[in-house]
Amino acid sequence: MLKSSRMWKFANPIKHPIPKTRWPTVEEASQSLLFQPIQVGPIRLDDRTWVPAMVPWRATKDGFVTQDNLDWYRRFAMGRPAALVVEATGIRDIPSGPLLRVGHERFLPGLKQLVNVVREASDGQTKLFIQLIDFLAVKRRPDEAKYFQRFLQITSLHRRTLSELTGDSTWNDADEKRVREWLAQGSEEIVARVLNDRELEALRFGYREHVTDTQLPHIKELPQVLPRIFADAARRARDAGFDGVELHYAHAYTMAGFLSALNDRSDGYGGARENRARLPLEVYRAVRETVGDDFVVGVRFLADEVIAGGNRINEASYFGVEFAKAGFDCLSLSKGGKFEDAEQPKVGQAVYPYTGQSGYECMPTTLSDERGPFGRAVPLVAQIKQAVNAAGFKTPIVATGGITTFDQAEAILQGGAADIVGMARQALADPDWFRKVKSGRGDEVRRCTYTNYCEALDQAHRQVTCKLWDRKEIDDPGITLSPDGRRRLIAPDWNCSKNPDRA
Ligand SMILES: Cc1cc2nc3c(=O)[nH]c(=O)nc-3n(C[C@H](O)[C@H](O)[C@H](O)COP(=O)(O)O)c2cc1C
Ligand code: SF4
Repeated sequence: MLKSSRMWKFANPIKHPIPKTRWPTVEEASQSLLFQPIQVGPIRLDDRTWVPAMVPWRATKDGFVTQDNLDWYRRFAMGRPAALVVEATGIRDIPSGPLLRVGHERFLPGLKQLVNVVREASDGQTKLFIQLIDFLAVKRRPDEAKYFQRFLQITSLHRRTLSELTGDSTWNDADEKRVREWLAQGSEEIVARVLNDRELEALRFGYREHVTDTQLPHIKELPQVLPRIFADAARRARDAGFDGVELHYAHAYTMAGFLSALNDRSDGYGGARENRARLPLEVYRAVRETVGDDFVVGVRFLADEVIAGGNRINEASYFGVEFAKAGFDCLSLSKGGKFEDAEQPKVGQAVYPYTGQSGYECMPTTLSDERGPFGRAVPLVAQIKQAVNAAGFKTPIVATGGITTFDQAEAILQGGAADIVGMARQALADPDWFRKVKSGRGDEVRRCTYTNYCEALDQAHRQVTCKLWDRKEIDDPGITLSPDGRRRLIAPDWNCSKNPDRA
């Protein structure tokens, strides 16, 4: 049984129903803005639908594409969204669990296969991008005794603080063992006074690297090494046959860390927002120089970090304009998803950046405030688009977050809030949303309930599925099941010949 996810909740949540809707006829769909083509840099999307990146936990532990990955992306391609973004894919040649990787040529054969599968299943209609991610180390929350015995580095500051707190000057020369033992037995309050913020974070949440840890050589040199690493990964993506890359500058990862208002690096890559944008722009230029102009280079970043002291809409608008000016082909907006406000993990587990309020805003559920979960980020996206357009750029902007009906998607486009509409969970619930709506059969859409069963699986690093279909027709021949044999791994096929007169 899947335990419910540990997630931040509103104090007095309101349960919102899934909005009732009407669906368009074939004629109406064909005349809608949603189903009009749009130019994204060098390529044309058949329409304005987009499936943003979703990690399905299906790669091998070494980061290779598996048959399950191929089946997962084939299933999305069968629904024929205009654009499909492959999950966050690691750009370095370092182990990162069962997440896809593109940090070496040996990953190319699998990625090429993935491209071919999507081309074939969509008859070439779905354009395929891959999201490129860099992330810093995050360790599991330690057992307290072990932390004091082994992990904490005892310093003269600890000794001095202990001496001040206790009025006992022998602490100034105390040996490590004595300090460790004393801290291990100390009250929470004492420990909080002796340890600094980062040590407390490591104790309570697990050790986590920050982009501001410039005392560590590999963090200090990030601005020198990341442009090349991203550029090489993008070149491999192009060699594998993708239509483009999306640079992951959102959520809790390295590049978002550089953009963050919390980034106070003093080496010209932190502090003022111009400096915080510096590395993200240098990475972009290195990627562009490497892949050329005939390959889409997009970016995903945050319309709001949703954390204390973090970037808000003004900074996001500034970054949007700078990214458009630099030459990104499209800007995809997300919201929140940060470590800073995440829930404390259990001992032995790693902190998950979608458990705090910022996590809620990233993947909002129907247990919400009065605004509800549907299109919550759209007003922010509209402001960013306005700023980008006012600066003279027409760079297409993708809005995502609780977008589920045709009317809602069409209103977002007609109202000029965005140029392209992204659907992650709705596409997971029903990958055929796009085909069904386009063919006048929207009433056959399996509607996402926005209660985040899928997200809880992601949190538990288990293969992601949707509760609406993972136990359906489970005995059908030829379907792949989860290792416990209880869930199917891809959505059932849409039997579109059931009502042939309507097709
Ligand atoms: C299982 C799961 C995995 C996700 N993985 C990624 C990811 O790899 N990269 C990313 O930028 N966003 C990721 N997201 C966030 C989605 O792309 C999207 O922004 C979010 O779910 C809100 O959109 P929705 O309301 O249409 O689902 C993930 C979401 C889910 C549910
Ligand atoms: S499990 Fe399915 S219905 Fe529930 S939020 Fe995820 S995609 Fe939607």
